Amino acid sequence: MDRIYGRHKRSIYRSLPETVVEIGPGAGANFRYYKPGTRVIAIEPNTAIHARLTAKARRCRIDLNIKSIRGEQIDLPDNTANAVVGTLVLCTVQSPEQVLSEIRRILKPGGRYIFLEHVAAISGTRRRGFQERLLPVWRWLFEGCHLNRNTHQTIINAGFTDVDMNCFMIKMKWAPFSPHIFGYARN
Ligand SMILES: C[S@@+](CC[C@H](N)C(=O)[O-])C[C@H]1O[C@@H](n2cnc3c(N)ncnc32)[C@H](O)[C@@H]1O
Repeated sequence: MDRIYGRHKRSIYRSLPETVVEIGPGAGANFRYYKPGTRVIAIEPNTAIHARLTAKARRCRIDLNIKSIRGEQIDLPDNTANAVVGTLVLCTVQSPEQVLSEIRRILKPGGRYIFLEHVAAISGTRRRGFQERLLPVWRWLFEGCHLNRNTHQTIINAGFTDVDMNCFMIKMKWAPFSPHIFGYARN
């Protein structure tokens, strides 16, 4: 994961504020990139992974506060977060639109949402056909992950003031999840 995503994350994570809200951190793949001492409010509904998340936070010296809730309904007040991070999560949530709306609600004006997501290949390409055919099995294998979401468009449509989005392909020739986006959106 570090070989694929590390340089993108390093380019931005060190400039994050002292407190970060992270949506769907899983086992804490992002924690090694945060400054030690960062306070992370983790929105992670999968309680089975909380022990691993807590252990990773301890190793990376992250001050962790886990909330067992979904990103579609975040129990934080409006306009209170300076930064929200979400990586490889909008493919899995039930409603990416609702999660983005919640992110916008909790972000202060000028606050940043940092994203890294795999996205649908361009419509009509062989890769997109492959994604569509593989989808039912993939969703079953990878806990509801959708290969074919136009997450790039969903973020653009979410109403942020400014979106800085880079697209890249991971270097695994036949990986159905090759197309990615990385960047930030400002509230
Ligand atoms: C593919 S994992 C990504 C984990 C981590 N962010 C990473 O970059 O490796 C997706 C994570 O999103 C979480 N998740 C699923 N549905 C969610 C929801 N509605 N709200 C918040 N997190 C959710 C899952 O429990 C899982 O931890």
